[in-house]
Amino acid sequence: MSGSTFGKLFRVTTWGESHGAAIGAVIDGCPAGLPLNESDIQTFLDRRKPGQSKYTTKRNETDQAEILSGVFEGRTTGTPISIIVRNQDQRSRDYGNLAYTYRPGHADYTFTQKYGIRDYRGGGRSSGRETIGRVAAGAIASLLLKELGIELAAYARSIGPVSVPEDEYRFSEITENSLYMPNNQAAAKAAEYLDSLIAAQDSCGGTIECQVAGLPAGLGEPVFDKLDACLAKAVMSIGAVKAVEIGEGLHAASLTGSINNDAFASENGRIYKKTNHSGGVLGGMSDGSTLIVRAAVKPTPSISREQQTVTEDGEETSISIHGRHDPIIVPRAVVVVEAMTALTLADLLLENMGSRLDKVKAYYTEEKNVQ
Ligand SMILES: Cc1cc2nc3c(=O)[nH]c(=O)nc-3n(C[C@H](O)[C@H](O)[C@H](O)COP(=O)(O)O)c2cc1C
Repeated sequence: MSGSTFGKLFRVTTWGESHGAAIGAVIDGCPAGLPLNESDIQTFLDRRKPGQSKYTTKRNETDQAEILSGVFEGRTTGTPISIIVRNQDQRSRDYGNLAYTYRPGHADYTFTQKYGIRDYRGGGRSSGRETIGRVAAGAIASLLLKELGIELAAYARSIGPVSVPEDEYRFSEITENSLYMPNNQAAAKAAEYLDSLIAAQDSCGGTIECQVAGLPAGLGEPVFDKLDACLAKAVMSIGAVKAVEIGEGLHAASLTGSINNDAFASENGRIYKKTNHSGGVLGGMSDGSTLIVRAAVKPTPSISREQQTVTEDGEETSISIHGRHDPIIVPRAVVVVEAMTALTLADLLLENMGSRLDKVKAYYTEEKNVQ
């Protein structure tokens, strides 16, 4: 099994290797009638493509999305949507000397142990390029959510030691700096830190946060498919993500109940929470407030500094990786976290439609009236 399919009703399968002919996704279960064209997908893909700044890899990939099926006259038809992105500028010779050597921090050793064969060119299926399929599918999920008034915003909350405190978030600045931080001053500081790492032939990690506004209460299926459990799986499946938090996350462990609990209040018959330590999830279901998901991303494993390792035969050697790699993964992974969040929500939204008899009845009664 390759574990390449995600979701139950809004289902995505990603395929392709980083140095193969192409990479892409098949999305099945998208309702018919959603307006969709290639530029909708391209806008998302452009946010993850390399070469956007000196902090992202210099590979010159245009990553042009082509829709092969599932769309007719600018609308989804309800049949599988197939998207292809042909690989370009793949210099496989950059990787030739790595064919028999295990790169520290990469999946080379585990792929060899599991399959006995691996595509060593750029990590094959474990490459960051695999996320192209996720982002293309996430673009469609986001459009579906938008139709329902649900909006997502993702950004780099911290890079190395530079973190943006919540009260200094300025969302309009996210697209004004190449690091996608919600504060230009913090981004300038982070850029200085990255310059020092480049000089030291090293890399760093950071955190990505995604906020979702406009979610109705009740999304998520107790008990194994709770919203937070599904989000954790979705976001943790992104390469280099090492932890996922919802709301207070790890910090909740050091709080008291009286602080961590969100008090309920009511205004004109509308029930709401006065605070949002829960991050928008209670009992595994959305609670109607803003959903807050956070991902910790490890430092880029490929560094040009010399590291100790072994060959496939167990012979000790050293390695310094001079291919084209990001000194920080975070800026390019921001849209990937957003995409995986959107895919999770689109799937749970469709699943939630069958949760109550009155709603099922209303749906079919309405349908009859339409026919
Ligand atoms: C968008 C994205 C881009 C990435 N780019 C690189 C890169 O340029 N160089 C690198 O060494 N790792 C990169 N990675 C991370 C590796 O794919 C990942 O760390 C590796 O496969 C090992 O998997 P693990 O970190 O989940 O254990 C990237 C990951 C993502 C999500």
